[in-house]
Amino acid sequence: METVVSGIRPTGNLHLGNYFGAMQNFVKMQSEYNSFFFIADYHSLTTHPTPEDLHGNVKKVLVEYLACGIDPEKATLYIQSDLPETAELYLLLNMNAYMGELERVTTFKEKAKKQPQNVNAGLLTYPSLMAADIIIHKANKVPVGKDQEQHLEMTRTFARRFNRMYKVQFFPEPEAFNFGATLVKIPGLDGSGKMGKSEGEGNAIFLADEPNVIKKKVMRAVSDAGPTVPNSIKPEPIENLFSLLRVMSTADTVEYFEAKYNSCEIRYGDLKKQLVEDIVKFTEPLRERIKELSSDDKYLGKVAAMGAEKAHDSGAKNIKDVREIIGFRKF
Ligand code: TYM
Repeated sequence: METVVSGIRPTGNLHLGNYFGAMQNFVKMQSEYNSFFFIADYHSLTTHPTPEDLHGNVKKVLVEYLACGIDPEKATLYIQSDLPETAELYLLLNMNAYMGELERVTTFKEKAKKQPQNVNAGLLTYPSLMAADIIIHKANKVPVGKDQEQHLEMTRTFARRFNRMYKVQFFPEPEAFNFGATLVKIPGLDGSGKMGKSEGEGNAIFLADEPNVIKKKVMRAVSDAGPTVPNSIKPEPIENLFSLLRVMSTADTVEYFEAKYNSCEIRYGDLKKQLVEDIVKFTEPLRERIKELSSDDKYLGKVAAMGAEKAHDSGAKNIKDVREIIGFRKF
């Protein structure tokens, strides 16, 4: 059976981008693969959260994994720092990770620009920690959104380099996976780029958002005065609204608004109202589950403990083999 690994950084509630870029596939894959889904709390330290925020965010993501339908009996659902062997593999991979290749990673360059006062070594070596997460379970497939594609290329490079260096076929070269389709990128509501937690107020819709909040955000989404020439190409903010509609609404609805756009009769207020209705319908049951689970610390504790044990069974065994291969041997 093939192995699948993926993770989410705990930096707040999950948004529609996380859901449709990754989580949806975690849920689909959990029955057919040897699955490991984790909360990347080591990774989130690059932005220096307080202990309270860190703990609170880990809980939020754990709750939301469960609310979205991850079954902790089927998949191994764990917290990254509960598998400290990941940190050991990270150290080992860093010995063969080069400044040049790490500095060239797009997310590093973006982060360094965004937070010039905090360009720490964790940011630079983010791809080796991510590779450690993945190959510690000898994963074959990694369900992620489009923004993680380059990190997966680095993971393959590190796995290949290890195998070549020690003349072994130990680590598979894992691929970013979306059931054969291209990786997903869900746009934000601010007219540019992608939906993301740190992209500014109103850009992201969170799974836990109340209907009135969803309405406010969508109705304020960037649009324009509408096309004046039939069948014109959509400017980016409008294409983004349609992308969201394609994910959230029925094919008939999309077709209806496409036709209205093409004949220059579109009213963005109508499109947005439809979008609000469909997002609220989709998130309603999740929101209910999130509320229930958030007050059940005992159950969450049980899930985390079970995940830690199962993750350890897999990770500790592989690290033992890695140590042996590298030459850390007993006398
Ligand atoms: P993170 O926490 O930023 O996002 C979690 C997952 O959600 C996807 N995603 C999106 N997909 C489509 N459209 C969007 N707008 C969007 N925003 C987020 C991400 O692609 C990701 O799949 N580095 C990772 C966490 C991580 C990881 C790993 C993932 C650490 N170790 C090992 C896989 C395997 C990250 O920061 O994702």
